[in-house]
Amino acid sequence: MEMEKLVSLCKRRGILYQSSEIYGGLNGFWDYGPLGVELKRNIKEAWWRDMVTSHDELTVPPGAPSAYEMVGLDSTIIMHPQVWKCSGHYDVFHDFMVDCRQSKKRYRHDQVQGRWVSHHGRRIFVATEADGDEALQDTLHKALRFFNLRAKDAERLTWESGLVCLTEVKDFSVVLGPDAKELGTLTEPREYNLMFKTYVGALSGEEGAAFLRPETAQGIFVNFKNVVDSTRVAVPFGIAQIGKSFRNEITPRYFTFRSREFEQMEIEFFCHPSQSRAWYEYWRNRRYEWYVSLGLAGERLRLRDHTPEELSHYSCGTADIEYAFPFLPPGKFGELEGIAHRGDFDLRSHMEGKLVRQGDGYVVERGPDGKPRHPGSGKDLTYFDDQTRERYIPHVIEPSAGADRAALAFLCEAYQEDQVPDEHGNPRDRVFLRLHPRLAPIKAAVFPLVRKEGMPEAAQRIYRALKPHFNVFYDEKGAVGRRYARQDEVGTPYCITVDGQTALDGTVTFRDRDTLRQWRVRADDCLAELRRLLGVT
Ligand code: GAP
Repeated sequence: MEMEKLVSLCKRRGILYQSSEIYGGLNGFWDYGPLGVELKRNIKEAWWRDMVTSHDELTVPPGAPSAYEMVGLDSTIIMHPQVWKCSGHYDVFHDFMVDCRQSKKRYRHDQVQGRWVSHHGRRIFVATEADGDEALQDTLHKALRFFNLRAKDAERLTWESGLVCLTEVKDFSVVLGPDAKELGTLTEPREYNLMFKTYVGALSGEEGAAFLRPETAQGIFVNFKNVVDSTRVAVPFGIAQIGKSFRNEITPRYFTFRSREFEQMEIEFFCHPSQSRAWYEYWRNRRYEWYVSLGLAGERLRLRDHTPEELSHYSCGTADIEYAFPFLPPGKFGELEGIAHRGDFDLRSHMEGKLVRQGDGYVVERGPDGKPRHPGSGKDLTYFDDQTRERYIPHVIEPSAGADRAALAFLCEAYQEDQVPDEHGNPRDRVFLRLHPRLAPIKAAVFPLVRKEGMPEAAQRIYRALKPHFNVFYDEKGAVGRRYARQDEVGTPYCITVDGQTALDGTVTFRDRDTLRQWRVRADDCLAELRRLLGVT
């Protein structure tokens, strides 16, 4: 699937727009249109329902060490600045960036790659932001231009390496930046904190400084004690939250994949340290299965364990659920969700102060005066088990998903092209979204075949009977073939058509988006039939 086709479909049919488009857009920000908002809400609702409200607390799920409880939370986007100091985001949530003095562009150091090339004894590193074959082409064009050669002289260049990351290059004086015409225009890499800063109240100085949250997780940790004290939850239990997060990404790209404002769906699952490995295994598999159940499957989805070098500062084990997005080079996967074993890092940090690694464990980081560098709340965040009379700091397993990345993956997977017969039996090209019915923005479209003979009235009666239960759509404009095509294109799983036979026997035609199968159903039974098809009781 070519990504441009999906991007154009999303714009044309009101799924996704660039933010502030009439002013030229704002890089890294996206708006969901009338159909996109339904898709994203359906994803979030499916997650909330499957993880929280329909979770059966009395039964041990397959693969889980025991039964467990799940509750929800909705915490604020702006929190006390100390939260981010103790969590580590203030000190270590950064990327390295390089600036180009010539083009004035900024790049993420680890996202620029290039090739070593020489010509007449002069050796340079040609950098690019592209990937895969595109990167090879781009570096070739730039090298030809730099050495003043024509395309037909390409064999006069001597390539001395394949693609290597800019992080491997020590001497920037021989680097030709991705958008530069001369060598040595890139600055040395500098740290850049990804948190958006803002000011609370009338204080404009550092006193009033605060941050837009870069993850929803910390809102859960700082409410752990509130939830334990105000509800009857007992470990093991999870707290779930869906909400906006903000990261000032240096290079937002790949449509919504890396945005500066996005939504996360996170669970912090609190368990006894002795059972944390087993819970980690459970959540890795459980979350992977969730994507499969909603239609992501096969070779494009995988579960990958992090190598020790990849682990975040807090994590003692992480697995990513990854999807082979079509904008990535063949064989490359992008992260959809991370499942991290965070140990007791977060609760301890908010209790004692920011922690740093020491040997196999963590200790409070101290300043030159011996005091904690970022003091914690001092509140007791331990847990007391009434049954065993044991007091301990629970370990945390964190399945952390992105609602926007999930939406993008479901859209990429759903995009299909085929040929269907038109009303004369001739093959017609069709684009359709094979979205899981739970995710489809519109569940069914209701049409009168023609705008006469009482058909619109009959179709409107059906529409009105269905509308209180499902998001259905009524359309009587244009040829019925075109109306089917418009619904296929936005993933509507079923169409219901009132036709000539309806007046004779009271039945209507149901049509399946994927198989094109058509069958007749009594007009009065449309709600029951749709419920049956959608698996809703
Ligand atoms: N609390 C842990 C945490 O935030 P993360 O891997 O940084 O972990 C979790 O983020 C998920 O949030 C990612 O797997 C991804 O789905 C989503 N996400 C992160 N950064 C994003 C961005 N810039 N744009 C869109 N989604 C993003």
